[in-house]
Amino acid sequence: MPLLNADYEVVAFKRDRLPETIAAKTKHVYDVVSGVYPLSTYFFHSRAHRAALQMSGIRDGMRVLEIATGSGEMFRRLVQANPRGETVGFDLSPKMAAKTQRQVRRDFPGARTQCHAVDARYLPFRDSSFDAVMCCYLLELLSQEDITLALEEIHRVLRSRGTFTLVCIGQNVGVFNRAYKVAGSLAPAFWGRQVEERVPEWMRKCAFRLTGERVIRQGFYPSRVLTASK
Ligand SMILES: C[S@@+](CC[C@H](N)C(=O)[O-])C[C@H]1O[C@@H](n2cnc3c(N)ncnc32)[C@H](O)[C@@H]1O
Repeated sequence: MPLLNADYEVVAFKRDRLPETIAAKTKHVYDVVSGVYPLSTYFFHSRAHRAALQMSGIRDGMRVLEIATGSGEMFRRLVQANPRGETVGFDLSPKMAAKTQRQVRRDFPGARTQCHAVDARYLPFRDSSFDAVMCCYLLELLSQEDITLALEEIHRVLRSRGTFTLVCIGQNVGVFNRAYKVAGSLAPAFWGRQVEERVPEWMRKCAFRLTGERVIRQGFYPSRVLTASK
């Protein structure tokens, strides 16, 4: 029996589980948790952050962009690795962006840094203006359509042969996947859903050339780091 339009929407929803933009809710949720978010980064993301920075090829003197800084733990690593360059960051949540900016100005007063509240789907930067782009644990929170918009924007602002480093939540631990599905259905604006297995294909579709990958575990929390060039 042929599927009606509404049936297609239900099928698509079941497959993707995050079919619509929920950016307004995400912004609110991450504003609310900005004060305690560093704990989550410390326990679950710090090992992958270290690996991502190593793999990124970021060197002092570059123009570096971090997308979705959260409370700024990776941003501080980037500024430390790039004291004579320029490091730009942003996050959808104004409180996250302000916290990141405040801390980095305090810890690295001489460094050229800026962090603002910006939506990854619409970047306020010129074409080819960054040598390297870093993005950790964002795509889980975007609908498939918004992932494409964000990846296209990243591709646009990265210079030719520049490097893009992406960290996603891994899908290689079955028990974790089941727990994540439950968490995501209870609070989709905070957890989103796992997308790691589909990400390489989406990156290729947006004209990135994949150059490296690493799987990381921090306790029970799996991550996958991917590097690509334009
Ligand atoms: C799971 S946290 C990850 C934070 C940080 N990158 C890390 O590695 O710990 C996701 C972050 O993405 C931000 N975010 C969500 N949607 C966004 C969008 N459309 N544009 C920019 N940032 C966004 C949230 O505000 C949040 O701070």
